[in-house]
Amino acid sequence: MLNTPHTAPVAGPCHIAIIMDGNGRWAQARGRPRLFGHHAGARRVREVVEACPSLGVKYLTVFAFSTENWKRTQVEVAGLMSLFRRYIIKETRTLKDNGIRVRFIGDRVRLDAKLTGLMDTLEKETRENDLVHLTIALNYGGRDEVARATKRLARDVADGHLHPDDVDEETLPKYLDTHVLPDPDLVIRTSGEARISNFLLWQSAYSEYEFIDTLWPDFTAAELERLCRSFGARDRRFGAVSA
Ligand code: FPP
Repeated sequence: MLNTPHTAPVAGPCHIAIIMDGNGRWAQARGRPRLFGHHAGARRVREVVEACPSLGVKYLTVFAFSTENWKRTQVEVAGLMSLFRRYIIKETRTLKDNGIRVRFIGDRVRLDAKLTGLMDTLEKETRENDLVHLTIALNYGGRDEVARATKRLARDVADGHLHPDDVDEETLPKYLDTHVLPDPDLVIRTSGEARISNFLLWQSAYSEYEFIDTLWPDFTAAELERLCRSFGARDRRFGAVSA
């Protein structure tokens, strides 16, 4: 059957990256501590991951903790670290059994050994999976990632493995934490803030952006579907002109 224009399937985003913002305000509006909002936010991650296959989303990257988030109170930071540990322990089997491959990006050096051990195990347990690639950015900052990548690249130059003349736009991303991932097609930020807060700076050079008012714990699969459809209607030219 031929597709008529109004029924033609839209080409949705293959890789969606999300800045999950608004957990604190969501909790505050209910008179509850900020961590209550983070726990509600963690439950939303599951709903969004589950929605990905039917929307044709192969890669999902979520910003769970930034290199700047250490500036929060000790109670909130400790609570988030404990939430990440519990999340991994609780979700490993489900993720493994449902075809989700999990990766972490960010600097692990400042994370405690118990958490990094769990992260390693989850990555290992799910490495055969290919239905959806879920990447969790934990102690991640775009500038920090580029600095760490540059350090590794400089080491390769110093060791004679790489010639300075061969450093170009194709070479540098091979040193980034995201080297095995495609660039995000669509970056979503919830909670009404219109900034990118050091997230995927290199990778999002040509991404489409959606800044939406919904607080992250209220974000639904239906809203994700709406954003995917709206993405499909966009004209992405990557610096060229339309055909
Ligand atoms: C930003 O909201 C949110 C965070 C810094 C933490 C994000 C963490 C989660 C959604 C839960 C865990 C995720 C996984 C993958 C287990 P905010 O605290 O800045 O909210 P506010 O702007 O309203 O204060």
